[in-house]
Amino acid sequence: MADDGDGGGDRHRQSRLFTDDDGGFDAERAKAESLPVEDGEVIDTDELADHQRYLEGRGIYDERNRVNDLTGKEWKYATKSVIAEGYPPALQHDLRSEHGGQKPPRLCAELIDRFSKTGDTVLDPFAGVGGTLLGASLCEHEGTGLREAIGFERTRRWVEIYETVHKRENEDRRERGDPPLADQDMRHGDCADLIEDVPDDSVDLLLTDVPYWNMDELEQTRNERATRESKLGSFDAGEENGPVGNVEDESEIGADSDAGSDGGEPSAAKTEPEPESETETQSKADWLEGMATKFDRFTDAVAPDGHLVVFIGDMYREQSYEFLSADLARAIESAAPVTLAANLIWYDPTKDLHVYGYPFSFVPSMVHQNVLVFRPDDE
Ligand SMILES: C[S@@+](CC[C@H](N)C(=O)[O-])C[C@H]1O[C@@H](n2cnc3c(N)ncnc32)[C@H](O)[C@@H]1O
Repeated sequence: MADDGDGGGDRHRQSRLFTDDDGGFDAERAKAESLPVEDGEVIDTDELADHQRYLEGRGIYDERNRVNDLTGKEWKYATKSVIAEGYPPALQHDLRSEHGGQKPPRLCAELIDRFSKTGDTVLDPFAGVGGTLLGASLCEHEGTGLREAIGFERTRRWVEIYETVHKRENEDRRERGDPPLADQDMRHGDCADLIEDVPDDSVDLLLTDVPYWNMDELEQTRNERATRESKLGSFDAGEENGPVGNVEDESEIGADSDAGSDGGEPSAAKTEPEPESETETQSKADWLEGMATKFDRFTDAVAPDGHLVVFIGDMYREQSYEFLSADLARAIESAAPVTLAANLIWYDPTKDLHVYGYPFSFVPSMVHQNVLVFRPDDE
């Protein structure tokens, strides 16, 4: 630490009180003596600028932070481009897994903590069984504070499941003596209609997991059957060299195409009853155009310094890698007044691996999903 004048001298004196046997700074001892330590140095809280506050156990918070409620130390971790985390089944996972494309509420809570502030409004226009809504409620107890969340979901069954999950979770929490999860505002209907009721600039974070490109269902069923018949082996315990069949024909592999931790279930497109008109073949271009149009409308609702954060898994299909995340990012950017700020990777280390392609061709075993982060453009 450089001695930067009067104040710096104080800091030096304070640091010297906590030297180890070799004369180096002893952070452990300093922590034990409950003095604030940031990046290996004792913080002299008198020296903090007017806009800085020391938060016990969390580091220095800068009041000018418009993005979230994180301290500098927490921010450093939160800007990592890979989230390498499996989320064990929780929050009535058995009920939520009927959906098949649900996201872990704790992962949603982490993203909400990174991209919004306490009391902010979060919108999920494709809410499913409520991963985002539950995440917003979790933030009150496991994050930086409660957010209000609004969800749109057009399948009534998923709305009902969210409501049951919330009720049962709170019964369990009451029994455990934990404080209840706040209820959130889940609305049943088509997001293209429901968005009309959301005032412009009233949403601080749009966090969603888009419905997948809805391929020809007949083709999909055929391919799934072929994949099953190919006797794909998985690297399960004791099965390392398990059955490996002719695996040249697995035609669709997505990041969420197998059972694993919360969120590792089959993609929504494979399990959801979709309205009749949308079960027909849909070209990728149609899917992208539909999403881009919706996001253009959603962006009106997002405040100028808000964010739009979108889960999207890439896919392997018919011997080729479908870079859906890149395609979707470009489609949204070209239709809506937003700019891509980041592509975070959610890597789930607990996901089962499968022997795809062996020994004929390289087929990726998808253990990641993309999380696109957009910022509204300046007007
Ligand atoms: C990938 S899932 C989202 C899962 C969610 N993240 C969760 O944790 O449960 C996408 C959801 O969007 C819904 N959906 C698709 N098109 C919609 C529309 N136009 N309006 C409202 N919901 C729609 C689907 O029914 C599906 O539940």
